[in-house]
Amino acid sequence: MVKQKSPLTVGVIGTGAIARDQHLPYWRELEEEGRVHIVGLCDIVKARREEEAAKCRAAKTYSDMRKMLSENRFDIIDVCTQNRFHSVATIAGLQAGANVLVEKPMAMNVKECEAMIAAAKKARKKLMVAQHMRFEARAQKLKEVITSGACGEIYTAETKWLRRRGVPGWGKFHIAKESLGGPLIDIGVHMMDLCVWLMGCPKPVAASGKVYRKFGDRKDFFNADWGTPYPPKEFDVEDYATAFVRFEGGLTMQMQVSWAANVHDEIENMYILGDKGGVGINPLGFFSADHDSLNHTTWDWLSAEDGHRREVRHFCECVEQNLPVMVKPEESLRIQKIIDAIYLSSAKNREIVIK
Ligand SMILES: NC(=O)c1ccc[n+]([C@@H]2O[C@H](COP(=O)([O-])OP(=O)(O)OC[C@H]3O[C@@H](n4cnc5c(N)ncnc54)[C@H](O)[C@@H]3O)[C@@H](O)[C@H]2O)c1
Repeated sequence: MVKQKSPLTVGVIGTGAIARDQHLPYWRELEEEGRVHIVGLCDIVKARREEEAAKCRAAKTYSDMRKMLSENRFDIIDVCTQNRFHSVATIAGLQAGANVLVEKPMAMNVKECEAMIAAAKKARKKLMVAQHMRFEARAQKLKEVITSGACGEIYTAETKWLRRRGVPGWGKFHIAKESLGGPLIDIGVHMMDLCVWLMGCPKPVAASGKVYRKFGDRKDFFNADWGTPYPPKEFDVEDYATAFVRFEGGLTMQMQVSWAANVHDEIENMYILGDKGGVGINPLGFFSADHDSLNHTTWDWLSAEDGHRREVRHFCECVEQNLPVMVKPEESLRIQKIIDAIYLSSAKNREIVIK
């Protein structure tokens, strides 16, 4: 007789917007399937933890993550707090014997990321940063095209995500001591992670960048439908960042990201260029030329399944079956090295060498 495996025990630290909308719905789905049991939810705000617990079968609620970790045994801890607590909550989860999925960005700086990786190694547990865009069907398709060799030699990537008026109007995204920075670490981390992964994870060697604060702290700032619940004087992060990154082997990446810029409409695109072909999102496709023809291959039929859903299910499967995670923590550490170097470069007005 096959022995029935007991469901994995899951705890979530931070039950704000991303946990409510993009993590807990998928953990609950897995709970319905009998694969996990959501045991504990922790948030310092009572209403947030209780609202989410009411949707789960039997989750206990906590205001203190250490109490939750000491009173229960978790197979998985999902960290969804603002950036400031990513490192401390991840390390606490790992030390308590859990595998940890942590929201992006990995942490506030390289030192914190290194401590998280060391804790995962010591505990012999899995650690993965929630870079959900890698899991989307379009990203998987582009990775498949590049891996097939169809693009030839990949030499550069460029990406741009500019919102016209879209500063996150909730949480602590606008406060440097809570989040480190603005769009660079918020949406830039997605675009850079995707570019670097699609390029084959080359090692970054130098970065040059500049960040600007032009809108978010203005009293007259109009944030369209993103809301402005924060007092403008609290806003001490950038609202625009531009960067040029060099990698081993001569590869490069250019990036521009903004929460607020005077553009026609929101732009979110990316190209990875090779000498035989290139791939991109918005428009999605593989671009090449042969027999005097310009070719654009695209895939209208790709699944629109939420990348967060795939990511949560992937992490669950990795823990269930002891499989390697798709977003390696060492890859996320390299992205943090680029972020740290861009902020330093901006402050010092020069290129920064990345070790
Ligand atoms: N992958 C994505 O596309 C995506 C989108 C949005 C946010 N995020 C990331 O998710 C994280 C959270 O963002 P959000 O939008 O949910 O913000 P949020 O402010 O809505 O949620 C954060 C929650 O953490 C709680 N919290 C803070 N300190 C805590 C502590 N010590 N213990 C327990 N709970 C604590 C807060 O009370 C809050 O409810 C951020 O790191 C952000 O970068 C990722």
